[in-house]
Amino acid sequence: MSDEAQAFWDGVYRGRDPSRHGEPHPALREALAPIRPGRALELGCGDGTTAVWLAARGWTVTAVDISGVALDAAAERARRAGVSSRITWQRADLRDWTTRETFDLVTALFLHTPLELDAPAVLARAAAAVRADGTLLTVGHFTLPPWAWDPHDTDGLLSASELSTALGVHEPGWRTVLAKEVPRALTGHDGQAGTVLDAVLHAVRTTTPHPPRPTTAGPAPTRS
Ligand SMILES: C[S@@+](CC[C@H](N)C(=O)[O-])C[C@H]1O[C@@H](n2cnc3c(N)ncnc32)[C@H](O)[C@@H]1O
Repeated sequence: MSDEAQAFWDGVYRGRDPSRHGEPHPALREALAPIRPGRALELGCGDGTTAVWLAARGWTVTAVDISGVALDAAAERARRAGVSSRITWQRADLRDWTTRETFDLVTALFLHTPLELDAPAVLARAAAAVRADGTLLTVGHFTLPPWAWDPHDTDGLLSASELSTALGVHEPGWRTVLAKEVPRALTGHDGQAGTVLDAVLHAVRTTTPHPPRPTTAGPAPTRS
C-alpha cells in the first residue's frame, strides 16, 4: 500500500463534508435501468455515493478505495441509508489489488489521481472480473471544467475508445453498448456553470466464445 497515495487521498476526504449529497453518475443510472441487481464491484469508491446507491437498489456491493477516511465516511453513509449489510468496504491500493471473484457489474467512476496509477491496467484487471452477461461501466474525465486547477492539463485522460482498446473490450467476447464522450453540466464551488465531457465506456461481456483462431496448416503428411 502506498503511504503517499493514502495520505494524499485521506487529506482530500478530510476536507470534505461527509454528509454532502452526491448523485450517482447519469451514465450508471441509465446503464443499470434495465438490469436486475446482482453482485457489484466498485473501484475507487471514495465516500460511497455510488456504492450506497447501488445497495439501496438491491445490489450486493464490494467497494474498494485506498483512503480510510473516505471509507469511514462511506460506511457512515451506508449506515444512515440502512444498507450496511449489503456492502463490503475494502481498503486497498489498486496498483496491486486483484480478485478471483466475478461480478455482474464492475464499475469505476473518475479513477483519477495526481499520483502514479496505471488506471488502464487497473481497469483491465477489473474487466477480467466481469462475469458472462455482466456489465462493465467506466466513466472518466475527458475534458475539465474551466475552474479546474489546470483546465488544459488533460494529459493521460483517455477517450472512451482509447480505453476500450486498452481494456480489450473492442475484441470478441464483449459487446460495446456505449463508448463515447458525453457532455455533463456541472456547477463549481462558487456557483459557476460549466460543461465537461466524460468518457463513458459501457460494455457487456457476451457468452459468445471467442471464434477459433485459424490454424496454419503444416505440410501435408506424406506416406512413404
Ligand atoms: C477522483 S476520486 C473519485 C471518487 C469517486 N469514484 C467519485 O466518482 O466521486 C478518485 C478515487 O480513487 C481513489 N484512489 C486513488 N488512487 C488509488 C489507489 N492507488 N488505490 C485505490 N484507490 C485509489 C481515491 O481515494 C479516490 O476516492
